[in-house]
Amino acid sequence: MKKYDVAVVGATGLVGSTFLKLLWEYKFPINTLTLFASEKSAGKKVKYGDSEYTVKKLEKGCFDGVEIALFSAGGSVSKEWAPEAEKSGAVVIDNSSAWRMVKECALIVPEINLNHFDGARKIVANPNCSTIQSVLPLKPLNDVFGIKRVVYSTYQAVSGSGMKGKNDLARTLKGEAPEFYPYNISETCIPQIDVFEDNGYTKEELKMVNETRKILGIPDLPVSATCVRVPVMNAHAVSIMVELEKPFTLEEVKKAFESQEGIKVLDDPKNSIYPVSTVANDNDLVYVGRIRRDLSTANGILFYCVSDNIRKGAAANAIQIAKALIKEGKI
Ligand SMILES: NC(=O)c1ccc[n+]([C@@H]2O[C@H](COP(=O)([O-])OP(=O)(O)OC[C@H]3O[C@@H](n4cnc5c(N)ncnc54)[C@H](OP(=O)(O)O)[C@@H]3O)[C@@H](O)[C@H]2O)c1
Repeated sequence: MKKYDVAVVGATGLVGSTFLKLLWEYKFPINTLTLFASEKSAGKKVKYGDSEYTVKKLEKGCFDGVEIALFSAGGSVSKEWAPEAEKSGAVVIDNSSAWRMVKECALIVPEINLNHFDGARKIVANPNCSTIQSVLPLKPLNDVFGIKRVVYSTYQAVSGSGMKGKNDLARTLKGEAPEFYPYNISETCIPQIDVFEDNGYTKEELKMVNETRKILGIPDLPVSATCVRVPVMNAHAVSIMVELEKPFTLEEVKKAFESQEGIKVLDDPKNSIYPVSTVANDNDLVYVGRIRRDLSTANGILFYCVSDNIRKGAAANAIQIAKALIKEGKI
């Protein structure tokens, strides 16, 4: 089996360290591994399996020979350095939002739209974490019943803000003042993720709108979102209302969810069986439950889904993209 020369950019971060954990866990075929972070981390030792690797800083020519570059160092680093890696011949899989809406760059959830990668650009974008876990259940609904309209309400864990978010929850739980979020996240939900645009939506909300349309290939799909940060350490939740084209039974909807790779249905509310963050922690599935008719529309369905935002919402999805492209002979 061929082994690959792999680079991880942002290797000291929350997503980057999960990349390393999962590359090892999935036994990804690695020939050489090169780790990058900011200048302040250059020289730092990081463990991968039983070996130690020295973190490097990004510099001209640093991607020479790299075949797969996994980026998780923020948008500005991706904007500047992903094209360098691409020019060196690497396939880049980028976790930031920098390339997601660029027409030539595929935005991929491998169970749904791997066919969007046509090689025109070798930068592949990993979607927003809440979007990944939401489009997975939307795909089978669209295939079977057709989707007419979507409304998202998210409950997003602090790990979605990286180390800064986790540290702020830990700090405020001990009674210390917040240093990252505008309010004490240990005491309140915060209905703001990222900055506000002029239309009253945050960038995170608009990412969910635009990325859902691009992944599902329905450019004019009516979608709205409200994104809220909650005092949970890890695993995002999303409540989703979908108006369907065709009438449905709840059994048919459940069957559609169960047929989708990557989804596990947990839906026995009378016995308190439904998706919770602790079930989703540290695995790659999207858990779906609380499936019921929307009382306000004729063909509306409501459900709730939970997933580990650092794994399926980021590192796992990106490595699954790499594995799937290898399997198809595209890397
Ligand atoms: N957390 C999530 O749920 C999630 C989900 C999907 C996507 N993402 C995206 O993934 C990216 C990383 O998120 P994270 O949560 O892992 O953040 P994080 O924990 O803050 O880690 C950021 C990483 O980027 C590195 N970095 C910062 N500036 C750099 C520079 N100038 N050059 C090279 N490396 C640099 C940092 O290195 P130092 O340690 O040296 O500072 C660190 O390794 C972001 O684009 C984020 O939007 C995150």
